[in-house]
Amino acid sequence: MRGVWSWCFSLAVFVGVCFLVARPVIAVVGGAPAAAPEPDAAVVFTQLHGRSARIEGIKDNRLGYYSFYGIRYAEPPVGPRRFQRPVRRDLVGELNATSACQKCPQPDPNAPQRMIGHEDCLCLNLFSPKMPGEERGSPVIFFIHGGNYRTGSASPYGGKHLTQEDTILVVAQYRLGSLGFISNGQKEASGNAALFDIYVALNWVKDYIQFFGGDPTRITVMGQGSGGSAASLMALSSEGRSSDGVVALSGTALSPGAVRTDPAKHAQELAKRTGCPETPVERLVLCLKKLPPEQIIKADNEINSDMVDTDRFLNEISGRQGAGARVEGADDHRGLPTLVMEPPAVTLKKKRQTSPLLTGVTSAETERAVFGKYSKSLTSQLQKIKDFIKKDIIGGLKNVVSAVEGLKTIEGELKKLPIIGDFEEYYNRLAQNGGDIVEGLAAIAEVTGDALFNFPAFKSVKDWSQAAPAYLYSFEFNGNLTKGSHFLPGVALAEESSEMAVSKAKRHGPAHGDDLAYIFDPLDDNGNSVEGTVSQMDSHVRKNFLGVISQFAHNLKSENKNTNQSKPLFPFLRSKDTLIKITDNLKSENLDQSFRFCQMGIWGNMADRLLGSVCQNEIKKLLELVPIPTELNPVPILSPILTNLSPNPNSIPNQKPNNVLPNVFNWG
Ligand SMILES: *[C@@H]1O[C@H](CO)[C@@H](O)[C@H](O)[C@H]1NC(C)=O
Ligand SMILES: *[C@@H]1O[C@H](CO)[C@@H](O)[C@H](O)[C@H]1NC(C)=O
Ligand SMILES: *[C@@H]1O[C@H](CO)[C@@H](O)[C@H](O)[C@H]1NC(C)=O
Repeated sequence: MRGVWSWCFSLAVFVGVCFLVARPVIAVVGGAPAAAPEPDAAVVFTQLHGRSARIEGIKDNRLGYYSFYGIRYAEPPVGPRRFQRPVRRDLVGELNATSACQKCPQPDPNAPQRMIGHEDCLCLNLFSPKMPGEERGSPVIFFIHGGNYRTGSASPYGGKHLTQEDTILVVAQYRLGSLGFISNGQKEASGNAALFDIYVALNWVKDYIQFFGGDPTRITVMGQGSGGSAASLMALSSEGRSSDGVVALSGTALSPGAVRTDPAKHAQELAKRTGCPETPVERLVLCLKKLPPEQIIKADNEINSDMVDTDRFLNEISGRQGAGARVEGADDHRGLPTLVMEPPAVTLKKKRQTSPLLTGVTSAETERAVFGKYSKSLTSQLQKIKDFIKKDIIGGLKNVVSAVEGLKTIEGELKKLPIIGDFEEYYNRLAQNGGDIVEGLAAIAEVTGDALFNFPAFKSVKDWSQAAPAYLYSFEFNGNLTKGSHFLPGVALAEESSEMAVSKAKRHGPAHGDDLAYIFDPLDDNGNSVEGTVSQMDSHVRKNFLGVISQFAHNLKSENKNTNQSKPLFPFLRSKDTLIKITDNLKSENLDQSFRFCQMGIWGNMADRLLGSVCQNEIKKLLELVPIPTELNPVPILSPILTNLSPNPNSIPNQKPNNVLPNVFNWG
C-alpha cells in the first residue's frame, strides 16, 4: 500500500490524479517538476500557504521507517535577530534532509570554557513510521530535550523504537542559555525567546505533519528535565496550548528549575562579565548583539561557577541556575501575547489545564551527581560538619523548595514528627543506618531526590488531576542500555565519574536520564546508532516503557477502540496515589499505590499521613535499626501542636505496611 501511495505522489507531481482519491489532502507540488522518486523512497511533498517543497530523507529498509534530519522551522536567529522571537520559515523548494544541523551554541562538555555549536540551529529531526496513506495518520511525539535550558541538542534522540510503535517522533532544537533566555523584563529583552522557538516549531509541526504521515489532532508534547518543565509550561499557557497531551519526564511545571525567580540578576551579571552597560536595557541588548556568541556562552558558564559547595551543588542539581524560562506577565510591553503569564502553580489552581499529563521520575534521580561529580566535596563536608545533612542539605533544600510557588507547603504548621522529632531527623537517621560515608551519600541522594524530583512530580500530578487526566510513573530499572550522559552531556545529574567506582556497589537505581535509552535510539552526531547489543531483559523493559508512552499518545482523542493500542492507562487517583512502575516485571503493566507515601507526607506537610499507623511503623522500624543518640531528647508521642490533628483513617491506603514503602531502605 505504501508503495502505491509513494508512487501515487510522484505521479501527482505531474498529473495530480491521486489528489482526487487520497483522503488527507496531500501535496501537489507546483513550480518546476521535481525528479520522480523511487517507489517507497523517503521523499515528501508539501504544499502550504501557497508554497511547495520536496523533502528528501532517509529510509531504513530493514524496519521500514523514514528519517528526516535538519529541517529548518525558523529563520536563523543571527545578527539583529539574536535574542528576538523567532520568525517561522515554511518549506519551499527542494530540500535535502539527510543530515542534522548544528547544535545551538553551548559549552563544550569536555572543556566548558570553549563553545560548540552555531547560532543557525533552529531546526528539527523527524522520524516517521509511514508515508501518508488511507489509514489514519500516526500520533506525534514532539520532544523537547533536557539540559537545564543551557545544553543539549536534537542529535542523540533517534526515533527507531517509537516508529515501531506506529508513532512519529519530532525533536526540535531551541536556543540555549542567555542566547535563548536573556531577560530583564523590559521590551528589549522580555524573555522566553527559546520557548517561542518551541512554540513556533510546534505550530509548524501541526501544519506540516500530515505530509509526513502524522495526525495533527494527536500531538503529544514530551520533554525531559528542563524540557519536561517547558512542555508543561506550554500546556498551561493559553497562548501556547496547542498540544493534545503532555509527557513530562523528570521535570514538571513545579520543578525548582522550571522558571527563574530573578532573571534580571542574570542579565546584570552577564553585563558585568562581558563589559556591556547594565543600563539602559536598549544599550545592553545592542551591545550583547554585537558580541561573538562564544563570549556570551563563556560568561554564562562563569556565572554561578563561583558559588561554593552546598549552594552550588543544590543549584546545579535543581537546575535553577543560569538563564532560563521566566514568568513574563500578561504582555511583553509591546502588546504581544506572552507564553508564561503567571506562575504555573497559579494556573494549576485555576484548573486551566485541559490536556492529559503523564509525568514521573527515575528512582534515583540525583544519585549519579551525589556519587559522581559532587562525591568528593560532599564526603569532606559529611566528615567536617556536624549535622551536615540536617542543617546544610535539608536547610538548603527547604530554601530551594519554598522558592517555588506550589511547593511551599513545607513551611506550614507541622514541624515535628511524633517519636522522631524534627522531620529532618528522618533522613539523618537514614544516613546513620550503616554508619559510614557511603550511607551518608545515599541519604543525600534520597533526600535530594525526594525534594527536587519526587515531590514536584507528585504535587504536579495531584494538582493536574483536579481538571484533566493525569498519570504518574516511576522508572525503577537499572539496566545496561546507554546511560543518561549520552543524551545529556555536561549535566551533573547524568555525568559518569571515575569516583563513582568507589561506591558502585551502593548504587541502587537509575539516575536522571537513564530512562531515555528505553525510549530513544541513542545516536551519535552523524545519526548512527550507538546502542550496541541489547539484552532480553533490557528489551523487555523498553517494551514496557515505550508501551506506556505510545499508549498515552495513541489514546488521545482515540476514535478506534479496537486496536491493541487503545488499552487505557491507569490514571493517578488522588485517594490512592496510583503509579505505574516501570520495572522488569513480566506483566506489561505494573501498578502500585502510595508513591513514597511518608516522604511525600513530609515534604507535603500532610499531618494525617505522618500520624497514621503506616508512617509511624516505618519510622519505628528505622528507630529500631538506629538507636536514638543519647543526647537527642525524645519527643513526646504527640507534640502539643499536633494534639488536635487526628489521623484520618480514610486517607491511609488499606495496604500491608510492608508494601507501602518498598523504597525507604532500598531503592531497588
Ligand atoms: C544530500 O546531502 C547528503 C549529505 O550532505 C549528500 O550525500 C547527498 O548526495 C545529498 N542528496 C541530494 C539529493 O542532494
Ligand atoms: C548487564 O550486564 C551485566 C554484565 O554483563 C549482566 O550480568 C546483567 O545481567 C546485565 N543486565 C541486563 C538487564 O541485561
Ligand atoms: C494485538 O496483538 C496481538 C499480539 O501482538 C496480535 O496477534 C493481534 O493481531 C493484535 N490485534 C489487533 C486488533 O491489532
